Parts: sequence; structure tokens; C-alpha cells
Amino acid sequence: MCNLLFYLLLMLCLDSGVHHVVGIGAGVNYGQIANNLPSPSRVAILLRSLNISRVKLYDADPSVLLAFSNSDVDFIIGLGNEYLENMTDPLKAQAWIEQHVEPHLPQTRITCITVGNEVFNSNDSRLMSNLLPAMQTVYTTLGNLGLDKQVAVTSAHSLTILGNSYPPSTGSFRQDLAEYLQPLVSFHAQIKSPFLINAYPYFAYKDNPEQVPLEYVLFQPNQGMTDPNTNLHYDNMLFAQVDAVYSAIRAMGHTDIEVRISETGWPSKGDTNEAGATPENAGLYNGNLLRKIEEKQGTPAKPSIPIDIYVFALFNENLKPGPASERNYGLYYPDGIPVYNIGLQGYLPELAMSSATLINVRP
Ligand SMILES: *[C@@H]1O[C@H](CO)[C@@H](O)[C@H](O)[C@H]1NC(C)=O
Ligand SMILES: *[C@@H]1O[C@H](CO)[C@@H](O)[C@H](O)[C@H]1NC(C)=O
Ligand SMILES: *[C@@H]1O[C@H](CO)[C@@H](O)[C@H](O)[C@H]1NC(C)=O
Repeated sequence: MCNLLFYLLLMLCLDSGVHHVVGIGAGVNYGQIANNLPSPSRVAILLRSLNISRVKLYDADPSVLLAFSNSDVDFIIGLGNEYLENMTDPLKAQAWIEQHVEPHLPQTRITCITVGNEVFNSNDSRLMSNLLPAMQTVYTTLGNLGLDKQVAVTSAHSLTILGNSYPPSTGSFRQDLAEYLQPLVSFHAQIKSPFLINAYPYFAYKDNPEQVPLEYVLFQPNQGMTDPNTNLHYDNMLFAQVDAVYSAIRAMGHTDIEVRISETGWPSKGDTNEAGATPENAGLYNGNLLRKIEEKQGTPAKPSIPIDIYVFALFNENLKPGPASERNYGLYYPDGIPVYNIGLQGYLPELAMSSATLINVRP
């Protein structure tokens, strides 16, 4: 009996080693603004069945971080905008990290903290002023605790921070944000952390469906556009957006900061005035995107840097406010059924107890 148990555990260990190597490249945003989602331990099994090994949270939900103990998943966790003011205080930053990060290390792999989300969308100058000091304090505190090498510090920005984005070579940040973004970008260069953007070609299409070719935003075959300054050819809007951000960062004097995509996605359903929100389009967007990630494609301006993406989102979230599209970005319904078929048929167990056997058996 004992030997048999040992053998079974050994098989599971070997098995999980295989999964780790195969993992799909894309990460996923695990948003939880809903009252009907499966328990985190069931979600851990679902993600494992999908070989998804990178997850982004908007908070530091201990029940999620605990459920993914000894899993092969790397986590980005979030400090919400409501914490920024307190995080400028070293004592409060240390208390937060001691309470929300340290207890989970190393058994849960927390590799990054996003300080604030879309702060420059807030139109709140106090919040904007607090962003960089909060990031600096969190970074310094991680250093004091010996964690700065394993946990990166960054923030996530909406593309409304761009004043100009077309053509991509002329990308620049909004002039009114320069006082915040210039030192922020310098800080990224100093600590070598990536600059994260939430990029949604869907918004551009929805706002202007007559002008924006659907094929161009969905990564379908199309004519695309050539940037007259660089002669680089763009056949999809997402890559043009990423390169516009690289240009904006370069205009601030930095060429050594990596741009990554902390959110992108397409809604499968929307209100009648939300053009293009269909399961077919969402499936094309996310399916084509996953293929580009599998092929490790870079953007025209940075061909050797494979695009790095967290899909928004894992589940439809029924309590999100706003238009119907907001509640329909999920790859999955809460019962684990895919909203559309892009080859991501996962396994969501009925019973949470199986997590003990499937997840927590690594040496
Ligand atoms: C996950 O990886 C395993 C092992 O290589 C593979 O058999 C399985 O098809 C993959 N699952 C998905 C959803 O890609
Ligand atoms: C900020 O700190 C104050 C004082 O310690 C505390 O009362 C408050 O709850 C904190 N704010 C947040 C959002 O945690
Ligand atoms: C942002 O704030 C400024 C000044 O308070 C105001 O004029 C402007 O309308 C606000 N913009 C938005 C989008 O709320």
C-alpha cells in the first residue's frame, strides 16, 4: 500500500514536470468581479489542464495564492489604486508585503507586483502623483527584505496615456502626463522592470467600425499599413500599438525598457451599440493571438522580442459594471465551458477536494 502510494506520487511528480515544459506561452488575467466563479482550487486544476502557467491577479487574494501552492504557476499580483497613498509610507509598504507576499513565498511563485492599475485614466492628480513614490517604496522595501531579485515592480497603463500613436514610429505620451511619465520611465530603466500596457484594438474598432478594417484588428489576412518613417509593415493593430509605446518611451530617452501587454482581449457579447462583440470575433482575436505567441513573434520594431501577453480574461465576470461587453471578456463561463472554441478545452473538476491530490504533490 505504502509502495503503491509512493509510486502514484512519483508518477504525478514526473507528470507535472512534463506539463511545465509544454506550458502555453500566454498568461491569463484571473479577474474575480463575479459571484458565481469556481473555487480557486478548482481553477488551479482547470489552469493546469490547460497548461497555463502565468496568471495575473488584480489583488493579492490569499485564497488564490494558497490554492496555487506548489503549482507551476507564476503570479503577477496587484496593489489596487486605493493602496497607493499608503504605499508611499515605508512602514505600511513593509506591513503589506509581510502580510500579502512573504507568507506565500516560495511555495507560490509571486514574480511581480503591479502597483496601481490604469492610474492615468483616473484624472486624479493626487493618485497620479503617488504612483512613482509608491512604486519606489515597494521596490526599496522588497530590497530590504531580500526579495527584489525575485519579485519585479511595475504598474499597468491604459493606452489613453498616448497622445500620438499613428504611425507607430511617431508614438508619444500625452504632454499633460509628461511630468509623471518621464520620471516613471526613468525608474523602469533604473530597476530594469517591464512597462505594462492594457491594449485593446477592440476599442478602436468599436468606436469606428466604418473606418477600422475588422481584419486588421483580428489578425486576419489584410493589406495592413506601412510606417512611412521606418518602412516597417504592420498587418495588425496590436503590434502597431506596442511599437507606438516603444516610440513614446524612446522619445523620453530610453531604449532599454521592455513593453509587455498586461491585458488584451475581445468581448464575445455586447450591447447593440457595441460593434463587433461576438463569439466569432473573440475566438478569431484570441485564437490568432495565441498562434502568434506560439510562434514567438515580435513586433516589426522589436522582431527579436517575442510579444508577452496576459489575455483578459479567464472567466466572464457577471458583476462588472458598465456596458454588456465588460461582463463578457471571458475565455470561460463560470462552469468551465469555453465561451468559444479555440482549442482550449480544459478540465474543471466538480469537487474541490481533488486539488489536494492533483496539485500539492510536488517535492
Ligand atoms: C497540455 O500539455 C499536455 C502534455 O503535453 C498535452 O497532452 C495537452 O494536450 C495540453 N493541453 C492543452 C489544452 O493544450
Ligand atoms: C491606509 O492606512 C490607514 C492607517 O493605517 C488605514 O486606516 C487605511 O485602512 C489604509 N488604507 C488602505 C486602503 O488600506
Ligand atoms: C479631468 O479633470 C479636468 C480638471 O479637473 C476636467 O476639466 C476634465 O473634464 C476631466 N476629464 C475627465 C475625462 O473626467
